[in-house]
Amino acid sequence: MNNSKVLQEKRHMNATSRGAKKELTIDTKYVKKLNASRMAMVGLMKEMERARKELEHAYEELKVLDQMKDEFLEMTSHELKTPLTSMSSFVQLLLDGKLGELKEQQKTGLEIIFEDVRRLEDSVNKIMDISRLDSGIATPNLKNLKLQDVIQSVVERAKPLAESKNVKITEKINKLPAVKGDKMLLEKVVRNLVDNAIKFTDKGEVLIETSSGKDYVVVCVRDTGIGIGQGDIPRLFTKFFQVDHSTPGPGLGLCICKTIVEAHGGKIWAESKLGGGSAFIFTLPVKEND
Ligand SMILES: Nc1ncnc2c1ncn2[C@@H]1O[C@H](COP(=O)(O)OP(=O)(O)OP(=O)(O)O)[C@@H](O)[C@H]1O
Ligand SMILES: [Mg+2]
Repeated sequence: MNNSKVLQEKRHMNATSRGAKKELTIDTKYVKKLNASRMAMVGLMKEMERARKELEHAYEELKVLDQMKDEFLEMTSHELKTPLTSMSSFVQLLLDGKLGELKEQQKTGLEIIFEDVRRLEDSVNKIMDISRLDSGIATPNLKNLKLQDVIQSVVERAKPLAESKNVKITEKINKLPAVKGDKMLLEKVVRNLVDNAIKFTDKGEVLIETSSGKDYVVVCVRDTGIGIGQGDIPRLFTKFFQVDHSTPGPGLGLCICKTIVEAHGGKIWAESKLGGGSAFIFTLPVKEND
């Protein structure tokens, strides 16, 4: 068909506007274009609706798989916990010589077993911790407490490990207002941060400092260790994240810290530079006056 003829094909219509008779001209090519766009739009909307349903379905499937993974991890951890506990207590008894004298070589072998069992126990405990925190079983049991006591007891327990690595560990604790917190859970936070600081520092020091504002207290665990690249910082507090996967541990410590601190109404973050040490800082609201 002749294009210019199509272009010129017009439809004349009469319409009345404000009483005056007016001629309205509609270009049929324009109408066809409009119809085509409308059809394309309807097609696009149908496609979007189909994609939305597919996504919704995939999300539901993922949720089920995620739940299955959590249940599997929890069940496996429970299964491992009991034999691991008896293994570590028996190895400890053997090492202490309570079940008879041991030769040096036997002692060395048992020390290696003990260290591995202890590490496995720690991983199992962390998996159980995160699953209990996620499921809401481990909600904080809030009591008035002095954070300095929590910090001091963690530092005392961490000293032998730091010394074995020649890393100096010090605390600078200011007088802090009381906080409302769960002692056992907050101990886990400080312990995870201090353990990391020692684990990722080969020389230098680990320093735990505190300060306080009107409504909150601040705890900072600083080290002179390997540091973390800027690109990795946003993922540090997610489950199973490790910068280097050959690092011992399941990669749950920081996720546990974040869950606990946020359950107390606080915040946690990291400041670090690759090769330049790290600082992990968290805040907790101070106890309101009763
Ligand atoms: N002080 C630190 N210095 C350098 N890197 C750190 C430090 N703390 C954490 N990281 C990095 O963040 C990762 C996650 O830390 P997280 O404590 O969650 O797991 P992990 O220590 O590897 O294992 P675990 O579950 O036993 O704690 C670590 O593997 C490490 O790569
Ligand atoms: Mg850790």
